[in-house]
Amino acid sequence: ESTANQQLIELHEQAAKLYHHILVNTEMGEQALDYLHDRGLDDEIISTYNLGFAPDKRLLLPFFQERKSDFQLLRQSGLFIENQEGQLRDRFAGRVMFPIRNQSGKTIAFSGRMLVKADNSPKYLNSPETTIFNKRKVLFNFDIARGASRQTGSVTLFEGFMDVIAAYRAGIKNGIASMGTSLTSEQIYAIERITQKLVICYDGDDPGQEATNRAISLFSNQQRLTLNIVQIPEKLDPDEFLKKYGAEKFQELVTSAIETPISFKMRFLKRNRNLENESDQLEYINDVLQVLATVSSPVEQDLYLNQLANNFGLDKSTLKRQLASIVPAKA
Ligand code: GTP
Ligand code: MN
Ligand code: MN
Ligand code: MN
Ligand code: MN
Repeated sequence: ESTANQQLIELHEQAAKLYHHILVNTEMGEQALDYLHDRGLDDEIISTYNLGFAPDKRLLLPFFQERKSDFQLLRQSGLFIENQEGQLRDRFAGRVMFPIRNQSGKTIAFSGRMLVKADNSPKYLNSPETTIFNKRKVLFNFDIARGASRQTGSVTLFEGFMDVIAAYRAGIKNGIASMGTSLTSEQIYAIERITQKLVICYDGDDPGQEATNRAISLFSNQQRLTLNIVQIPEKLDPDEFLKKYGAEKFQELVTSAIETPISFKMRFLKRNRNLENESDQLEYINDVLQVLATVSSPVEQDLYLNQLANNFGLDKSTLKRQLASIVPAKA
C-alpha cells in the first residue's frame, strides 16, 4: 500500500472515530442514537460496527486542519464535497454513518443513511470511488464474515447493511452485503475464496426477489459454490422479520426455509401468472423446462420433473420428451 493510501485510510479511521464519539457521547448525536435504539440496536452492536453520526457540514474540515492533514489528501478522500468557492463541506452531514471496512478491518469508505426523510436525497449515500475504495470489490462486513464462515461453512448475502447488522445480533455473523448494487464478478470471486456455500437472503419484496433471480444467474456459470436461497415471508426484509418475530424464528428461517436455485426459479416463474389459466400453465411449464434443460445432474432434473408432473397432473415421460427437444440456452 502506498503512503498516500495509508494516509487516506488513516483519515477514514479518524473520521469514523469522530462520528462514533459524536453519536454515543454528545447531544448532537442524540436523535441519531435514539433512531438506532428504536431500530433495535443496542450500544454493544453500535460499538462493534463503530456506527456514527455526521451532524454538521462544517465539522470535519476544522477537525482535520487541527491535525495538520494535507489539503489535497482531504480533497481526494471522498469525505467532502467541494462547493463553488472551493471550500470543502462534509458530504455526509445529517446522516447516520456506517463505516465500510476492507479485508483487514480498516475503514476505507462510508455509507450514510438519512435520518430525516427528504425527497430529493437518497436514503443511503455511499463514498465515491477513491484509490482505497472500489465499489466493485468491496463487500460490507467481509472481514467479520470470513472469520465466522470458518465455523458455519457458509456466508450469507443480504441486501442491506442493516440486515447484516441485525443478523449479527441474532447470532448470524457470516453476513455480507454489496454496496446497494448488484453483485460483480470481483465480489463473486472474493466470496468463492472464503466459502463453498452461499446463502442468499435478500428482501422478501418484489425488488428483492428480482435481485435474487439476477444473483442466481450471475452464479450460474460457476460450479464451486453451492447456493441456498432463503425466502423471507410477508415481503419483509431480514431486519424487519427479526424485529417482528425475534432471533430464534430468524435462525430457524435461515437454516430450514432454504430453496435450491431451481426451486427458487420454479416459484419465481409463477409470479405474474394465473396458473388456473391454461395458456399461462403452458407458458409456465415451458419456462420451467427451459430452466431444467440447464441442469446437468440427472438426479436433480428428475426430482424437479416429478414435481412438475405432479403439480400439473402430467405424465413424466411426456415432460421428458419435451425436455429432450430443448436446446439449453446456456451451455
Ligand atoms: P433501511 O431502510 O435502513 O432498513 O434500509 P434497507 O437496507 O432495508 O434498504 P433497501 O432494502 O431499500 O435497500 C437495500 C440496500 O440498497 C441498502 O442497504 C443500501 O445499500 C442500498 N440503497 C438503498 N437506498 C439507496 C439509495 O438511495 N442510494 C444508494 N446508493 N443505495 C441505496
Ligand atoms: Mn435511546
Ligand atoms: Mn430492498
Ligand atoms: Mn430492505
Ligand atoms: Mn430494511
